[in-house]
Amino acid sequence: MRLEGKVALISGAAAGLRRELMGFGGASAWMFLREGARVMLGDINEELGERSASQMRDEGYDARFVRLDVTQEQDWIDAVKATVDAFGKLDVLVNNAGTGAQQNVEDTTVEIWDGQMNVHAKGAFLGMKHAIPEMRRAGGGSIVNISSINGLVGSPTSTAYHAAKAAVRLLTKNAAMQYAGESIRVNSVHPGYAWTPLTEKNFSIKEHLDERVARVPMGRICDADEIANGILYLASDESSFVTGSELVIDGGMTAQ
Ligand SMILES: NC(=O)c1ccc[n+]([C@@H]2O[C@H](COP(=O)([O-])OP(=O)(O)OC[C@H]3O[C@@H](n4cnc5c(N)ncnc54)[C@H](O)[C@@H]3O)[C@@H](O)[C@H]2O)c1
Repeated sequence: MRLEGKVALISGAAAGLRRELMGFGGASAWMFLREGARVMLGDINEELGERSASQMRDEGYDARFVRLDVTQEQDWIDAVKATVDAFGKLDVLVNNAGTGAQQNVEDTTVEIWDGQMNVHAKGAFLGMKHAIPEMRRAGGGSIVNISSINGLVGSPTSTAYHAAKAAVRLLTKNAAMQYAGESIRVNSVHPGYAWTPLTEKNFSIKEHLDERVARVPMGRICDADEIANGILYLASDESSFVTGSELVIDGGMTAQ
């Protein structure tokens, strides 16, 4: 019961159906519930999110779904309110929603650039902005921002994604400095290559998968649970002295 009594809001958590491919948000939701938390799933994919939350309730857990477009400030205000109305408080926020964009510098349109900055950087900023007052009321909290190895090192593609994930990294450290004195901890997670609904199509192409695996010292990509384990640690009081840090979970890729 590593999250006993805690209330969590996880963005981008729709893909949480048992026996189907889960994303980091869905896998974290199950883990949080098993460890004693009550969880609000937020996502733009209402149909899948509602089904995931319903399946979690069928297993006896306290999970709900709220429609949340992380790029929209009013959606954040409503999602935080829905969480507090349902569960009485907010202790943990996981800023996990995201999309990919693989274009290089010249192929990145202004629309692609803005879309990536909006979903990753603005999304995490707005989530923190509206969750922090509730965490203050709760006497503290933990914010986990999902960045990427692409927020740490370069690659030949995905210009706007790299820029947006790097913004999430520093946004995390900046917020950590501001709220450390109020016991609101803010950390980033930097996953390497993982099988999720986001990457399934790309990694199903053998050459693409082989090319990624060849870059990873451990010689494989990971599943969502291996990332969710890190998110759980940062969400829980086990990481009570950890703030402003970056947890890299990448099979050794960025150690090279
Ligand atoms: N899978 C990987 O290899 C990998 C590696 C590093 C980082 N990441 C990051 O991890 C996070 C989770 O991705 P995942 O791989 O688990 O895939 P996923 O598809 O399960 O998660 C992304 C979710 O975000 C939702 N979403 C997209 N735009 C949204 C918006 N505007 N508002 C709310 N929800 C929105 C999608 O509907 C989806 O459910 C993303 O931020 C991604 O960039 C993934």
